[in-house]
Amino acid sequence: MPETTTDIPTKINWEEIRAQFPVLQQEVNGKKLVYLDNGASSQMPKSVSDRIDAYHKNEHANVHRGIHSLSQKATDAFEATRSKVRDFINAVSLEEIIYTTGTTDSINLVAQSYGRKNFKAGDEILVSEMEHHANIVPWQMIAEETGAKLKVIPMNDEGELIMDKFYELFSDKTKMVAVVHVSNALGTINPVEEIIAAAHKRNVPVLIDGAQAVPHSKVDVQALDADFYAFSAHKMCGPTGFGILYGKKDLLNAMPPYRGGGDMIDKVTFEKTTWNDLPHKFEAGTPPISAGVGLGAGIDFLNQIGMEAIAEREHELLEYATEKLNQIEGLKIVGTADKKASVISFLLDGIHPTDAGTILDQQGIAVRTGHHCAQPIMQHYEIPGTLRASISFYNNEEDIDRLVEGIELVKEFFG
Ligand code: ALA
Repeated sequence: MPETTTDIPTKINWEEIRAQFPVLQQEVNGKKLVYLDNGASSQMPKSVSDRIDAYHKNEHANVHRGIHSLSQKATDAFEATRSKVRDFINAVSLEEIIYTTGTTDSINLVAQSYGRKNFKAGDEILVSEMEHHANIVPWQMIAEETGAKLKVIPMNDEGELIMDKFYELFSDKTKMVAVVHVSNALGTINPVEEIIAAAHKRNVPVLIDGAQAVPHSKVDVQALDADFYAFSAHKMCGPTGFGILYGKKDLLNAMPPYRGGGDMIDKVTFEKTTWNDLPHKFEAGTPPISAGVGLGAGIDFLNQIGMEAIAEREHELLEYATEKLNQIEGLKIVGTADKKASVISFLLDGIHPTDAGTILDQQGIAVRTGHHCAQPIMQHYEIPGTLRASISFYNNEEDIDRLVEGIELVKEFFG
């Protein structure tokens, strides 16, 4: 099976790394692209798109089904990613790595499978005020079916969870805690170690939404002791349509399948069907094979740089951006937690975020505007939305300077 090759030097040259992202080399609206929407999706280095291309040209067939050599080749390529993911997040075994279509799918799987089996009327699910809709709505859906209730851990105006309230909300009725590791709208890094330890003292499992954490720092699911940890390939230099649910083996083994179909079965008769072993029990139907291969290449790319180096570089850029943006008159940063990663949400006095985002786009500057699929956060601040710049390791100081110039232009435009 071909290995992905990248061209990352031993001493990190960030500009050489940036040069490996073809999409960043283009002009948008006549200006060099400044891509600061990495929270929505990261970009793909050439090594990853080459690997997906090579898979389609040389290795494609369906997986886990064929005795023929090409199917075996496809299966090997697809399953190689499972080992890479296991090592990347330091899971114990391959059985704990479930392939899904993304973070949303991973959380729905746990809500529908674990929740349907274990929740009953009166039970409580603790989520936080800063969750993405993907870590609210699946719990609401299963709560409605089972009679369970959501309880919400509030946050303060800095965008930090109020931990005293978290402890107060816990009761004998608490059956699940579902919390985001890094907020997509505010950038807050939550104290998930403390949350997990506290929940475990009460024998309550914890699901962590890690979509915005895995791309920006080293995540070790054993050190965290997370029961479930969900993330997406397309935020970590991989393709869309693919993601991971990490789950502890005992919990996954005790859960019923989420979807039925091919691959997830052991034996099917019209009277009774038995299930395949982990991880396949949760992987019905033909999976997004090339996307899975692509995630493997994305992990290779990140590993060659090193997650510690990535976290350090992004922190440097976040500090630079925070300092520069704080100097702009009429700009207010929303989310000023002590510990943050990647994200700066902000407002401009008297200018609607959508209008500001449109003018920035005309300057070739891509940011996200709106509620960022986290409407309860906007309700907390009583605002319709924010502008959000989200940074990746392939951004640079020039991107931040261009954002600052763009914001000045927005202010001029709206007088
Ligand atoms: N959840 C993604 C974001 O924050 C799409 O933009």
